[in-house]
Formats: sequence, structure tokens, C-alpha cells
Amino acid sequence: MGGVVPEAAARAHVKNILPVTQKALVDAKIQLEKIDYIAITHGPGLIPSLIVGVEFAKALALATGKPIIPVNHMAGHLYSPLPQIKKQELKLKAVFPQIALIVSGGHTMLVLMTDLFNYKVLGQTVDDAAGEAFDKVAKLLQLPYPGGPEVSKLAEQGQPEFAFPRPMMHTKDYNFSFAGLKTAVLYHLRDHPNSSKADICKAFQDAVIDVLIAKTLRAAEKYQAKSVSLSGGVAANIQLRAQLAEQCRQNKLLFFVPAKSLTTDNAEMIGLAACINLSQKVKLPKLAQIKADPNLQL
Ligand code: KG4
Ligand code: ZN
Repeated sequence: MGGVVPEAAARAHVKNILPVTQKALVDAKIQLEKIDYIAITHGPGLIPSLIVGVEFAKALALATGKPIIPVNHMAGHLYSPLPQIKKQELKLKAVFPQIALIVSGGHTMLVLMTDLFNYKVLGQTVDDAAGEAFDKVAKLLQLPYPGGPEVSKLAEQGQPEFAFPRPMMHTKDYNFSFAGLKTAVLYHLRDHPNSSKADICKAFQDAVIDVLIAKTLRAAEKYQAKSVSLSGGVAANIQLRAQLAEQCRQNKLLFFVPAKSLTTDNAEMIGLAACINLSQKVKLPKLAQIKADPNLQL
């Protein structure tokens, strides 16, 4: 398997959505009647999976009379480091402006947050996302999917005497590009078929991390940020977490990252984003207005 097959993903969603919802209620020791709202991810993402979730939420809303809060998946990632701010008992004034680096399988973006509710995307990937690059490099090296955890594990043993390019590291914008890096790995493999997988993983990971950190710090300086946050599946990467934390320390920036278990897609971050939406007192949409949107923008 080399990735997510839309048809199979939709079937798996249909099969699992009811038992997972039931299990969540049992684990949380709460009855459906006691729930106030139903939060649902309506985009961005693969349309077959989004439709299953959105239509299931609507059916649940119809059956129970509970209102739906539609949530942008990327807002879920964006807010996922927030509990760390609370844990450290910091005032929001000490945290914002914040530069948020979101690195997932589908997105790589830098976001300027001026406060909890106001944010602006500064830049994003022009081709592959960081996680996607990890997955594609893993595939080139015949490692299982998802590739991020495999590549980062192997990278721990790597001591490469070569380096891959750092795409777009010195461009003035806040965009990223990782497709060329994957191609560099492909050419390296073609020219050095006996090269160690661990060395390739380490050289690749170093290149990705260098670019991500350089651009994040540049944005932090430009927008006089007080803090940096890291989220998305790639935020589980130990080296990225450690190196960004260290760079933030050196640059006197606060640094927030969710617990590793909450970096990859999860319902907690969607619930949290829903609560934040709700606290803005915006009018909730009618059921008929709620639609899956694969290209929903942050
Ligand atoms: O946020 P996420 O769970 O799903 C999307 O919204 O895309 O991110 C999944 C991505 C995958 O590409 C996976 O390979 C990557 O996160 N990932 C990692 C690590 N763990 C997961 N990438 C690098 N290092 C890791 N340790
Ligand atoms: Zn995600």
C-alpha cells in the first residue's frame, strides 16, 4: 500500500463511524442526550470520507435535535497546541502574535495568529506537503505507509556524508516546496543503489527540518511574534520538535506543541476548535447549509 485509496477510505468510514461514535460515548461515560453540540470536520480532505462524516453528523443532528458546529480540519490542527498554553498558565497577551507551523500529510503552512480568533495564512506548499514527502520517500525506500514514523526511526541511525538540497529555504516568501526533494532522493537512489537507507532518511529529514525551521523563524522575526506553535502529523517527529524548541529558546520565543498522540488527526482537536468557534458567538448554520468541502481554505 502506498497511501490512502479514496474508495477504501469511504468504505472504512461507513463501517466504523457508528461503532467509533458509540465507543467514544462509552469511554467518555456520557449519554448522547447529554451532549450539547455535534462538531464535524467539513473540509479540507478527501471528499468520500468527508461526505460520510458530514452526512452521519446531519443524521445524528436530525435524530437528536442537537446543533452542528462545522469545523475546518486545519483549524483543528492550528488550535491543537492551545492546551499547552493553558497548562503553562500563560496569559494570551504573552503568546500572541504567534507563528503557527502546520505540517501534515496534506498541508504545510505558516499562519500568523494575532489573537485566538484572528489568523492569516502567510504561505504554504506549492506542491507536496511535508508529510506527503515523508510518505513518498518511504515508498521509494520500500518502507510501509505512513512513511513519517518509519523514515524518522531509520534517520536516528543515519550518518550521511552527503546532503540534499533545501528547497525554497532562501526565498523571501513563506511558501514551501518538497516535490523536488523527493526527486533528489530518487536520483540519489538511482546513482547510489547501495546507499544506506538510514543515511538517506537522515539526509532527507535534515533537509525538511532545516527549511521548516528557517522559514518559521524568519516569519517570527518579521511579525515580531512572541511564540511559535507546531502542529499536524509531522509534528510527531522528534527531531523537528527538539530542534524547533531549541531554536525558539535561543530566539527568546515561547514554543508550543501538542502531546505526540494529539499531533496526528484526532477528534479532540476538532472538539477544541468547535468550542473556540462557539465562543465567537457566530450563528450556527442550518443543516442544509452544511456541506463537505474538499478544498476548504483556512
Ligand atoms: O495530520 P495528519 O495525521 O493527517 C493529515 O491531515 O494529513 O498527518 C499525517 C502525516 C503523514 O504524512 C505521516 O507520514 C506524517 O504525518 N507523520 C510523520 C511522523 N509521524 C507522522 N512525519 C514525520 N515524522 C513522524 N514521526
Ligand atoms: Zn490532519
